Amino acid sequence: MFELNTILRPHILSLTPYSSARDEYTGKEGIFLDANENAFGSTLDGSIVENVTSEEQYNRYPDPHQLAIKAKLAPIKGVRPTQIFIGNGSDEPIDLLVRATCTPGRDSILILPPTYGMYEVSAAINDIQLIKIPLTPDFQVDVPAVLSAIEPHTKLLFVCSPNNPTGNLIDPDDIKTLLNRFNGLVVVDEAYIDFADTQSFTSLLDQYPNLVVLQTFSKAWGLAALRSGMCFASEQLIEVLNKIKPPYNVSGPTQQLLLKALGNVPSKDTMVARILAQREELIANLLNLPLVRHVYPSDANFILVKFDDPKAVFDFLIDQQIIVRDRHRVKLCEGCLRITVGTESENEQLLTMLKAFANRLTTTV
Ligand SMILES: Cc1ncc(COP(=O)(O)O)c(C=O)c1O
Repeated sequence: MFELNTILRPHILSLTPYSSARDEYTGKEGIFLDANENAFGSTLDGSIVENVTSEEQYNRYPDPHQLAIKAKLAPIKGVRPTQIFIGNGSDEPIDLLVRATCTPGRDSILILPPTYGMYEVSAAINDIQLIKIPLTPDFQVDVPAVLSAIEPHTKLLFVCSPNNPTGNLIDPDDIKTLLNRFNGLVVVDEAYIDFADTQSFTSLLDQYPNLVVLQTFSKAWGLAALRSGMCFASEQLIEVLNKIKPPYNVSGPTQQLLLKALGNVPSKDTMVARILAQREELIANLLNLPLVRHVYPSDANFILVKFDDPKAVFDFLIDQQIIVRDRHRVKLCEGCLRITVGTESENEQLLTMLKAFANRLTTTV
């Protein structure tokens, strides 16, 4: 039976968190002389204090727990507000999870490369050992290898699904096996879930106390500049993340814009539909290009494409000011570039340039 307290670092368990002014007085009305803010306004207000609406007010600290956002997000995601942590990107909860559970120089996290790079970087920053069990050649989890690689001091296991940079969903039954067999936290990173035809693991939160699900506002919601990510987990774990986060980790303007975005779910759905249509068109067109050796199936908003000469294609595209991600040196992604699905016209320009590159090759041979 999983017991969160056994995997938390002892000093985190007994930590007294910082209590901010907005934690100690949560009322909205009054004369606020408790947080050492600038009562006269902000340099963005045009110095007219009286006429500034609360939405434009930058001189006051924001809600440290983003309660309005959680109230709006919870029914959209089918979870309780208390099961949500909002971070400065989903990169923030990745780091907080490592710091809450792993003792530097002793504990380890397990990752499944090729995968998102920040798990490894977060481990390195925190001096945490890294256990790497490569995905199988069809980019699935080698479950027996993972289970036998887990050590007594392994605290976290990161599963990215759909996986970056391969683009595919990980078999949900394999993730359930890991949840059942691993006595640490299984962190399912669903940054690209909106582009996949599948159910989120958030529906299993009450079933698995060791499940953590990460999602982000940076992809389907189109809000990468806001730096906002979501972490869904047991109430007990969310309380721990709240204890160790910086007090006001999500800025006021970000909170206002997130609230606005959450009131506009159809806009997100429309963009996702357009991206999916473009993804399928791009895949079909890439498959027709002789210089493309393989197009991997995608459940995300990007496509992993294998080329005969990826470096030459990459350099040629850069010369045309089309920037894709070079993954050809990554193990299991040899020969590959990762291409984000763009707008209709961006994808057209990409294909035109790839054809131009192919023509150049045939004329120079
Ligand atoms: C798999 C995965 N997880 C997390 C992130 C980080 O997202 P955020 O912008 O929320 O920090 C990314 C960003 O590319 C990603 O690919």
